[in-house]
Amino acid sequence: MIGNFRDWVEAADRRGQALHISGAHWDLEMSTIAEIVAREGKEPKPMVLFDDIPGYPKGHRTLFGLFLSPASIASGLRLAQEDVDRIGLLKLWREKVQTLRLIPPKVVRSGPVIENKLTGDKIDVLKFPVPRFHELDTARFVGTAVVNIQKDPETGWVNLGTYRNQVISRDRITFHAVEARHGIIIKDKYHSRGNVMPFAIAMGVDPALWWASTHDLAWGVSEYDYAGGIMGKPVEVIEGPFTKLPLPADAEIVIEGEYHPGETADEGPFGEWNGYYANQGLVPVPEPLIRVKAIYHRDNPILTCFSPAVPVADGCLRYAVGNSEAIWTKLETLGIPGISKVWSHELGFGMFNVIAIQQQYAGHAQQVGLTASQLPFPGVGRYTVVLDDDIDPSNLEQVIWAIMTRAPADHAHIHILERCTGRSSDPTIPLAEKMKYPVPPKPLHNTRVVINACRDLEHKPDWLPMAMVSPGLRTKTLDKWGPALSKVLAQG
Ligand SMILES: Cc1cc2nc3c(=O)[nH]c(=O)nc-3n(C[C@H](O)[C@H](O)[C@H](O)COP(=O)(O)O)c2cc1C
Repeated sequence: MIGNFRDWVEAADRRGQALHISGAHWDLEMSTIAEIVAREGKEPKPMVLFDDIPGYPKGHRTLFGLFLSPASIASGLRLAQEDVDRIGLLKLWREKVQTLRLIPPKVVRSGPVIENKLTGDKIDVLKFPVPRFHELDTARFVGTAVVNIQKDPETGWVNLGTYRNQVISRDRITFHAVEARHGIIIKDKYHSRGNVMPFAIAMGVDPALWWASTHDLAWGVSEYDYAGGIMGKPVEVIEGPFTKLPLPADAEIVIEGEYHPGETADEGPFGEWNGYYANQGLVPVPEPLIRVKAIYHRDNPILTCFSPAVPVADGCLRYAVGNSEAIWTKLETLGIPGISKVWSHELGFGMFNVIAIQQQYAGHAQQVGLTASQLPFPGVGRYTVVLDDDIDPSNLEQVIWAIMTRAPADHAHIHILERCTGRSSDPTIPLAEKMKYPVPPKPLHNTRVVINACRDLEHKPDWLPMAMVSPGLRTKTLDKWGPALSKVLAQG
């Protein structure tokens, strides 16, 4: 089992799943290489570690593609097995979540992150090889694979969330938390009281902590506690010298600062996870501004980066596993029976979710579909497909076949749900609608579709027999003819 972030990277190296690249530039070159690897790389796809970045000292590195392979996720989440496929990974992660108990962080006096401290005139967020990611981006983003840290002013609860951070100047950054994110709700609380909000970001944190920060947990549950549960030990934190916020003691880089009510700066354009300049096209949007007050970093720091793009891209697998687990667990928590398998498709980032069920009563499929249409969390979800569990929800060809042959195109099987929670990164919401609201969060809506591709229970006696080799006959045939077919079959 790995102990921390650097262990995790070394473990990937030992598996042969860390590609080292020397000499790539921060301006587009690193992100382009990372995008090509994520889209076109052979499985298992490696992390990419860049060093010798022009203009930066050797050892000031960046890491892309953190969760590209099942093994890197399994290793980061401390699962029992690393040699797994994507469904095996989901199974192991679900098992772990079911027994996960929250472990609060432990405050320590010091940690590797404060090996170097920059304050006053020394503050410069571009001290690190911060990338410009896409050709139409006009700025550099220091926080992409990042953890934003804030404290709820009413309860003292500490929230972590991954919200991107653009560089405005050497001591100014923004943060972009979309509608319904905890980070924007907390910011609004400080704002409405006219109070300054302490704020910090951390890069190069334990993979469990980064996973927790990108995972939608309930309001009031701290991602620190959840990460501790994944790791089986408390996350060690130091008290932020400036903000007093708990900061991960062994992060590679931490930036402390504060938000002053009403201060914004133009953010974007930035190419997003769904493959579009989805926020407001190429028009920048005012986002909360952070005045940077201190920077801490380890010797030879590694800046972690996430390069979103048209899928298949970085993040697809992480979202598929995380969202599938979240939908499945939430449906079960609501007491809905008969959920056999869930797969939130890689290309969909939570927008194409398929649930296989064992139908148990009339209306069961509707119940599952309508409930799941609002999952995994507000603002996500477009197509929800419910089907019988003879179909593998992770097999897109089977899913499309089931929709075509089992979902009559009528109102009983296809439901359109209007005025659901939307968000600014939704590419189907017209730009004019987004631009009506000058400042986030914007009260946007989206429309969702539920497709009931289950065969109707009341017509079970009439279900047509299917023309496909049964598992028993398949096995018997392969026992006899397997060697003759071995060269032409995709798998044994
Ligand atoms: C790589 C990555 C980047 C993300 N970037 C953003 C972002 O810029 N803004 C945002 O609102 N959500 C972003 N998200 C999603 C949130 O981090 C995620 O929904 C998280 O659970 C939000 O935390 P919260 O529930 O505490 O608000 C990102 C997720 C990932 C995996």
